[in-house]
Amino acid sequence: MTEKKTVLQLAQERRSVRTYKNEPLGKEMLDSIRSRVASIHEPFGGRVSFRLLNAGASHLSSPVIRGASQYLAICAKKGENADLAAGYAGEDLILYLTGIGVGTVWIGGTMDRDAFEKAAGIKVDEVMIAVTPVGFPADKMSLRESLMRKGIKADERLKTEEIYSERSVRNIALDHETYCDAVEAVRLAPSAVNHQPWRIIHDDAGFHFFLKRSLKASGSPDMQKTDMGIALCHFCAVLDEKGQEYRTEKLPDRQEADMEYIISVIPA
Ligand SMILES: Cc1cc2nc3c(=O)[nH]c(=O)nc-3n(C[C@H](O)[C@H](O)[C@H](O)COP(=O)(O)O)c2cc1C
Repeated sequence: MTEKKTVLQLAQERRSVRTYKNEPLGKEMLDSIRSRVASIHEPFGGRVSFRLLNAGASHLSSPVIRGASQYLAICAKKGENADLAAGYAGEDLILYLTGIGVGTVWIGGTMDRDAFEKAAGIKVDEVMIAVTPVGFPADKMSLRESLMRKGIKADERLKTEEIYSERSVRNIALDHETYCDAVEAVRLAPSAVNHQPWRIIHDDAGFHFFLKRSLKASGSPDMQKTDMGIALCHFCAVLDEKGQEYRTEKLPDRQEADMEYIISVIPA
């Protein structure tokens, strides 16, 4: 039996897959995905739902995707935290899919949004944040995919010290390995146009997540808020796996120049 991969291993292994084998997932796999979806808890109360879409039947395509026969639409109830919630829950599922060999890529922009929303049956009180193909990665990337990865420097990430800083930490509530792994899992996370807008400040009160915005947004979908949900998911998934107790809370009066405060992780 193969050993279960750690969250950090899954974060290292995951990459955006844009070229697929054009084979639908089997019933057993779809059932296991459904049961995983039922167990996802995200801390933003966004009531996230996933809709499985058939690309052929609904004429769905994306100019950056080749060979995908199925997609998942990642939807949430409209509201302040919809993007954060969808980012968290969507990434929880994406890490699971990575572990069972299913390729994915967050698609928030490069698609015919109207066609996907129609196929997903979006209601007036819902928002479709993004979609991802779900399928088996092709043995070779399309030329377009390799060029795109080069163009957005998809294999590069900021250095730890560029995303994480400590403020006179006297009582470190977590063991060193746990929070180093959690920060590393955040560092490797996917983000829109690979802009990596997350910043973590660690002080005696906990780990505070800030958004350093580089892309404009007007309302939802807001790709960089989605990025923040994804980052928080990676961080919390490492803590969960190591049995570390914590709570997530939006603390009052947290401010940093040029950044938007999102939420804090407070170890128990
Ligand atoms: C919220 C979000 C939206 C994204 N939207 C798109 C998109 O519209 N089209 C696309 O090709 N990739 C999209 N991506 C994928 C990113 O470009 C990719 O994650 C990043 O370049 C890092 O590459 P990697 O995922 O292979 O590590 C998106 C990623 C995120 C997190």
